[in-house]
Amino acid sequence: MKLFIDSAKLDEIKTAASWGILDGVTTNPTLIMQAGMPARNASPSDAGGDFKKTILAITKMVNGPISAETVSPDAAGMIKEGKEFAAWHKNIHVKVPCTSEGIKAVKEFRKLGIKTNVTLVFSANQVLLAAKSGATLISPFVGRLVDAGEDGMAMIAEAMHIIKNYNFTSQLLVASVRDTRMVTDAAVLGAHIATCPFKVLEAMFKHPLTDKGIEKFLADWAKAKK
Ligand code: G3P
Repeated sequence: MKLFIDSAKLDEIKTAASWGILDGVTTNPTLIMQAGMPARNASPSDAGGDFKKTILAITKMVNGPISAETVSPDAAGMIKEGKEFAAWHKNIHVKVPCTSEGIKAVKEFRKLGIKTNVTLVFSANQVLLAAKSGATLISPFVGRLVDAGEDGMAMIAEAMHIIKNYNFTSQLLVASVRDTRMVTDAAVLGAHIATCPFKVLEAMFKHPLTDKGIEKFLADWAKAKK
């Protein structure tokens, strides 16, 4: 399973990339805001400035899919924004919401050879629609489903069945990951990708018995050398 970082913070992305296990990056307007930058200038055609600089800085740190999200409500606006983002770098995946307008935009992006990430996905039927439209990546938000009292991983299992039943080329990107257990569950279900906050990626390395084991080996090594 590929691992992406769900962050626009350059220090986090740089550190995670240095571990050698990072395959891509997802950003969204909230993550851009949390990274301390204006998400976008006044209109989509003004997109640039800090947002563009940040996305381009990320492309230099990670050689893999980098998601940049559109904010227009209609397909025409999304297509205009997406064409601009895609021209910045070959690894950019244009993120659009799973609405009828978003799906229309994905069909057009597919024709243009522009890679996409359909986001804000909360049901298996939305996965089916995004896959039919030719989305490159499809992002179900598991954590937000769990927050709402639903079984997020059951939805991932259904979505993976649908993708495999019809040999769709779309890759399922499990998003809104809250903890390391969700990463394991996504991998067991065969999801193609999980995008994780920095703290979840960091926590995946950790186990108290690893720390305890190192401590004992070092203590015994010190004794052996005496
Ligand atoms: O890529 C964004 C997605 O992962 C949302 O996460 O934590 O805001 O539900 P969260």
